[in-house]
Amino acid sequence: MKVLAAWLATMATMATVTLAGPASANPGLGLPQLLPAAPGEAQRAELGRQLFFDRRLSFNGTMSCGMCHVPEEGFASNASQRAVGIEGRSLKRNAPTVLNVALLTTLFHDGRENALAPQAWSPLLHPDEMANPSVGHLLDRLRRMPQYAGRFERAFPGRGIGMDSVGEALAAYQRTLVAGDSRFDRWRWGEQPQALDAEQRQGFALFTGKAGCARCHLVGAEHALFTDQRFHVTGAGAAWAPRGPVVVPLAPGVQTTLQAADRQAYEAVDAPDLGRWDISQDPRDRFAFRTPSLRNVARTAPYMHDGSLPTLEAVVDFYAAGGGAAPDRSPLLRPLPLDAAERQALVAFMRALDSTALPALVRQARSPVAR
Ligand code: HEC
Ligand code: HEC
Repeated sequence: MKVLAAWLATMATMATVTLAGPASANPGLGLPQLLPAAPGEAQRAELGRQLFFDRRLSFNGTMSCGMCHVPEEGFASNASQRAVGIEGRSLKRNAPTVLNVALLTTLFHDGRENALAPQAWSPLLHPDEMANPSVGHLLDRLRRMPQYAGRFERAFPGRGIGMDSVGEALAAYQRTLVAGDSRFDRWRWGEQPQALDAEQRQGFALFTGKAGCARCHLVGAEHALFTDQRFHVTGAGAAWAPRGPVVVPLAPGVQTTLQAADRQAYEAVDAPDLGRWDISQDPRDRFAFRTPSLRNVARTAPYMHDGSLPTLEAVVDFYAAGGGAAPDRSPLLRPLPLDAAERQALVAFMRALDSTALPALVRQARSPVAR
């Protein structure tokens, strides 16, 4: 208990050191309004929080949702380009943040889901993520955990533990992760003209002007999600090329040459991530990925669906070059004439998108579970 208290205290100071600023009175400033909370929503969200951080939800009891969506790392994973799942298995994509995720109607980098409650079952069942062999298997395990029965019954009267209620509880928790009210929002919507400095304001002018970022990372008249929730080919990760023939030694002096086609039979990892194409089968969607929101983006490095760009500076350089090499790259991307000061200003603007609500969300995520 003492250890836990000390650790929580460290987390609390870390949060204030790295995320300084006045606490948020209105975390939703600058965001579209969510539907008002339904009766009982708070109870469901608290249950969802317990589930989100409970490692026993994975097959071998090691992995929780919160280990890839880490509160202190912008509810994403800063440590790995691509998420690392159960038994260290590497996934093909970077873990996106779950901050503000309730405002999205296009989920996953390829948009294959559209609602949080069913989405939760995807990592729960994925063999490389939480690896539960079936829905029933996990539900039976939850039913045997004494502390959950009463909590599910209170949050979902008459329904108890089921596929829907597990998903709905996790969704209810994620709906609380509203993280607007950044310096940008205070400047734009909060009548605080000093909230952005001159460099950040220049960055915003570039973002919505010459650099053309806001054509996909939308900024509306009344709020800004910084995403059109659509799919575009930026060329990130598309530099992939099939490896040529591979020479495999069989015995001293004896070797054979395997062609790419032979290797496909056993090397699933040696394949490009075609993104949206997997879902739409539309050839124009090869290498297309969903535009991510840029809110809190300074907290969620590394970047792009494959985590291939380590910093915001690298992202801006990537766009200044006109994006990556891909056959059907978006016509909205062109090499940009941006000097060093302009690139720096774009980065400074993106750093002003950190929510002042984040320290409180991190503290809440780590607060002990009420008995
Ligand atoms: C092993 C790491 C890992 C675990 C564990 C994990 N996730 Fe994720 N999560 C990811 C990755 C990687 C993606 C993106 C996958 C893709 O786009 O194909 C993702 C995507 C998401 C998204 C979509 C976000 C967006 O912007 O579209 C949500 C919501 C989400 N996860 C919630 C959860 C919940 C709830 C759990 C626990 C039940 C969970 N995750 C467990 C790695 C993980
Ligand atoms: C054609 C639409 C489009 C334009 C224009 C555009 N972006 Fe993007 N942006 C995307 C897409 C799509 C992704 C996701 C790519 C991926 O996952 O591989 C992305 C990803 C990013 C990311 C990474 C976010 C993360 O969480 O990984 C940043 C940062 C970013 N863009 C900033 C910018 C800036 C700055 C500009 C202007 C210089 C810009 N974008 C212009 C569509 C666009």
